[in-house]
Amino acid sequence: MTDIKIKIIDREGVLHEIDAPTDMNMNLMEVVRSYELAPEGTIGICGGMAMCASCQCYVVSDTELPEMSDDEEAMLSEAFNVKDNSRLGCQLHITEEMDGLEVELAPEEL
Ligand code: FES
Repeated sequence: MTDIKIKIIDREGVLHEIDAPTDMNMNLMEVVRSYELAPEGTIGICGGMAMCASCQCYVVSDTELPEMSDDEEAMLSEAFNVKDNSRLGCQLHITEEMDGLEVELAPEEL
């Protein structure tokens, strides 16, 4: 199996069901960008270094995800609009275990 299904609710509230490859070493932020689900320049600003929180999303499904790294936790402790289910998309590498994941993109930080 190389593709998994992920549901992504964009910042307009529109649900997109997409296929994400597990064999391309992509993270969730890159998947969102590749499907253009958020305007260029509003997501992935730090390039996936856990340093901007532009890729913040809320995990809606009860999919089990890898623990947060210290960097991710530190960034989220400073970000806006953080909820209990917030994660940084760039820190979530697409794996087969994530099949069925549903996330909502956090609002853009201005
Ligand atoms: S892209 Fe900057 S924290 Fe994820």
